[in-house]
Amino acid sequence: MNRLFTKDTQAIFWNNNKTAIQRMLDYDYVIKRETPSVAAIVAPTSSNKFEKFFWGGDEIMVPVYRSTKEAKEAQPQADVLLNFGSFRTAYNVTMDALDIGGFKTIMITAEGIPERLARKMNTRARELGVTIIGPATVGAISPGAFKIANIGGTIENIINSKLHRAGSCGLVTRSGGLFNELSNIIAINADGIAEGVAIGGDRFVGSVFIDHLLRMEKNPDVKYMILLGEVGGAEEYKIIEAVKSGKITKPIIAWCIGTIAKHYSSGVQFGHAGASANAERETAEAKNNAMREAGIYVPATFNDLPAEINAVYTKLKAEGVIQDIPEPEINKLPAYRRARQFICTISDDRGEEATYAGFPISSVALPSTGKTIGDVVSLLWFKKVYPRWAVDFIETVIKTVADHGPAVSGAHNAKVTARAGKSVVESLVTGLLTIGPRFGGAIDGAAKYFKYANDNEMSPSEFLKYMKKQGIPIPGIGHRIKSLKNPDLRVKGLMDFAAENFPATPLLDYARTVEALTTSKKENLILNVDGTIGILMVDMWRALGYSEEEIDEFIASGTLNAFFILGRTIGFIGHVLDEKRLAMPMYRTPWDDILYDVQKAEEI
Ligand code: ACO
Ligand code: LMR
Repeated sequence: MNRLFTKDTQAIFWNNNKTAIQRMLDYDYVIKRETPSVAAIVAPTSSNKFEKFFWGGDEIMVPVYRSTKEAKEAQPQADVLLNFGSFRTAYNVTMDALDIGGFKTIMITAEGIPERLARKMNTRARELGVTIIGPATVGAISPGAFKIANIGGTIENIINSKLHRAGSCGLVTRSGGLFNELSNIIAINADGIAEGVAIGGDRFVGSVFIDHLLRMEKNPDVKYMILLGEVGGAEEYKIIEAVKSGKITKPIIAWCIGTIAKHYSSGVQFGHAGASANAERETAEAKNNAMREAGIYVPATFNDLPAEINAVYTKLKAEGVIQDIPEPEINKLPAYRRARQFICTISDDRGEEATYAGFPISSVALPSTGKTIGDVVSLLWFKKVYPRWAVDFIETVIKTVADHGPAVSGAHNAKVTARAGKSVVESLVTGLLTIGPRFGGAIDGAAKYFKYANDNEMSPSEFLKYMKKQGIPIPGIGHRIKSLKNPDLRVKGLMDFAAENFPATPLLDYARTVEALTTSKKENLILNVDGTIGILMVDMWRALGYSEEEIDEFIASGTLNAFFILGRTIGFIGHVLDEKRLAMPMYRTPWDDILYDVQKAEEI
């Protein structure tokens, strides 16, 4: 807690402010951080899952979430919130983050948050021990570790102002512009800063000068402090108190801006909302005098500040308090960089041997590896190494649905196409295009609706009623030829496998109660092979520790039907090759297989 930020600090950035985020990541790259300082972006109206940014000449993806809660759950290590909401939303965003918890620092950039709300927000944060920086600020920086958004300006300016590595000064200002100016002055007249905060220009800011100076007093990197105050407010007197009582022992150099105010007959309001004196002791001159009397280094004029800094620095150096700072090696940003058009997260063909999710092909392909098609699917579809039972289940599904004879819709179409002289691939895709909600493609639907019913604790009859209202047959229920009397042994095989190998099958258990009801109405309304696969895949994923959102995403993206598509491809190719081998002539449906009911069109 003695340091505001470290090289491991990560932030959640509220608002997709791409330029500011890129500046942070450029800074990270230059100072050789290992992790990006922005762990997540919150963009309530975005449907993006990530945003691409440059990392040096390369690119990285920063995840995007709809809410602070989601972002915090996904990135619990990120303990800084950079609240870039507008003055209309910033209050709610902060209060929400305080409720969520786990944030050490919240920085608020918006200017003009209603003062009543700002005070409420600041009080709440103080109660919870959260440091608020702002409102109306450019933020803070721990050079060489972490920098908020635009503070310090461009990378060139940052390096010129020695903000790329820790120096010895602790700097606190109100204004962001003057913060940058002073960083530069400190770089020229001393060795840079160890930690710097611009607390913000609004009348009611969260953390005040004393909060930061007390922390810097305990921060071993800080050897002396510079305070740039302003006309208005009495915060500087707290520092005088702390110096007098011995709470602050490190040297402080201070200056209060706004001494010019005395030359105006009426009260002057400077740029910031807080920069106006309401009493004699709030004037810059009074505060400068009081600080000087307390033993704080206060120059005669602002113009003397650089010399004062240099004098204190030189003295501390002579005393051995400040040592020489070795210049660290830094990365250079490439002059030219190009955004990639495509992203691939599953395989890589650039090395000596291509990999499937990081595994060289030979390590999964060769029989000696003991790996199967199920392993390859788990790597390429899910980017995970699944346990044996799950891999075996995937493999069992693929083998189980590989074919179901020539009469089924898809095989029929593939055969007809092959007989029309089309190629293997053309005939195959014709078969594949037949897969849909009635034939082979009810797996996602089954997973979706059974999961929904079970999650909502619907009884089987409530579920049936619900589906009737939806106006669709229950996906995964019913078969043209299979029934209670003529059971589908594929279904039995899958269920037996699950009973033996799955840790638990809660959704299947529920689906069986639904099946009991549907088969009591009509005996072919069994849980069919599509339904069984969909439901067991959900049980499998739950047992593997996937979240409900991840499972819902698998379902929504069509992952489950893909198992049927993959398996049945084997069968369709078999049927197409069969046609070619047999050199079958073109198929024409016989007239007597068609009911012709064609009326002569009426003229209108
Ligand atoms: N849910 C509720 N009622 C159903 C369902 C169902 N899934 N399936 C059929 N019924 C009812 C129908 O409403 C109809 O009722 P009615 O006689 O009161 O009018 C009756 O059963 C017969 O309907 P058909 O559509 O003629 O049933 P058929 O047995 O021919 O259909 C089919 C089989 C297409 C699979 C059907 O059951 C269905 O659409 N099921 C859902 C989709 C599905 O799971 N498909 C995958 C099948 S397995 C595979 O392809 C690998
Ligand atoms: C299949 O696997 O193709 C079948 O269950 C569909 C059918 O009509 O037999």
